Amino acid sequence: MTGLQVTQGAAHSKIYAVGGYRPRRSVTNAEICTMIDSSDEWIQTRSGIKERRWASPDETVQAMAVAAGRAALARTELAPGQIDVVIVSTVTHFHATPAIATRIAAELGAKGAAAFDISAACAGFCYGIAMADSMIRTGTARHVLVIGAERLSDITDKHDRGTAFLFADGAGAAVVGPSDEPGIGPVVWGSDGDQADLITQTAAFDVAARQTGVNHQDFPTLRMDGNPVFRWASYTMAKVAAEAMDRAGVGPDQIDVFAPHQANLRIVDAMFRALKLPDRVVIAKDIEYQGNTSAASIPLALEALLESGEAHSGQTALIIGFGAGLVYAGQVIVLP
Ligand code: UT7
Repeated sequence: MTGLQVTQGAAHSKIYAVGGYRPRRSVTNAEICTMIDSSDEWIQTRSGIKERRWASPDETVQAMAVAAGRAALARTELAPGQIDVVIVSTVTHFHATPAIATRIAAELGAKGAAAFDISAACAGFCYGIAMADSMIRTGTARHVLVIGAERLSDITDKHDRGTAFLFADGAGAAVVGPSDEPGIGPVVWGSDGDQADLITQTAAFDVAARQTGVNHQDFPTLRMDGNPVFRWASYTMAKVAAEAMDRAGVGPDQIDVFAPHQANLRIVDAMFRALKLPDRVVIAKDIEYQGNTSAASIPLALEALLESGEAHSGQTALIIGFGAGLVYAGQVIVLP
């Protein structure tokens, strides 16, 4: 007996609201094809992407994250000061310290909230939701703001055929809080560092800075061995998603919405088929006009489905994120 007191939180947690920020500038496949040897037809057939958004200089990671956070908060009854923790998932905040989350919390008015960044690439949103759920149920937080914010265009080589058409910018957020009913199922998550080289930067930032001086144009960029990642995502990730359904105690028939990370429409389709989800299930296809926005893609896709009326509050959704690391996380959630 140590005599220590421990906290106990709410019985359950749920997502109260989601919100997003989509950069102003749409970049067409025609524009991409002025930079790489490709075609609108190839890009659409192989990835499903028709357009993507690239941020302008004023649409910083912080600005986009704050806008997404505000949009999510505005859909709740909560004041920013009631947020206890701000988790920001990003791989495009270029300071090792301080975290961008502290500035975002301050700008949002979440004064004094615990705030930190996570680096879990395209799985970042689902990692954040898993952490928020645990914090709320253990009593270390009551309300958590999870944000995914990326300017992947800053680290995309616009002349690389393997990635130039794929990566994009944006931010998405979710407010998570206590609930009487379960709203976030158990996470199934993990990593495979043996395959870390499949999606990685061409150089570390310190090496690049030493070699070139800190010049934005000489930033290291992302390189992806697309096809092995494609196969891993389509097959291994479907098994992870199936396990997330199992652990939540729901079968394919109880899923209303399928909103996986928007990496490639063919991956979305392959997973949907492998999971044997019924045809009536609404599938997120936000990638068509947003491209791959990494940690922002799932909350952006959820917001789009809820705003368009294709999905509704109270429905059951299967979400799964996967990407560089390799990392993955999936869970079943109740839509806000
Ligand atoms: O978000 C993190 C996780 N990321 C992902 O999950 C992305 C996973 N990967 C992918 O989405 C796909 O691998 C890509 C969309 C990136 C590429 O599609 P793919 O079907 O895997 O193409 P591939 O790399 O196997 O290339 C097929 C063909 C090749 O030509 P040959 O050898 O068949 O003659 C490539 O040279 O397509 C050619 N190709 C292109 N052609 C036109 C490769 N890139 C291009 C291009 N435009 N941009």
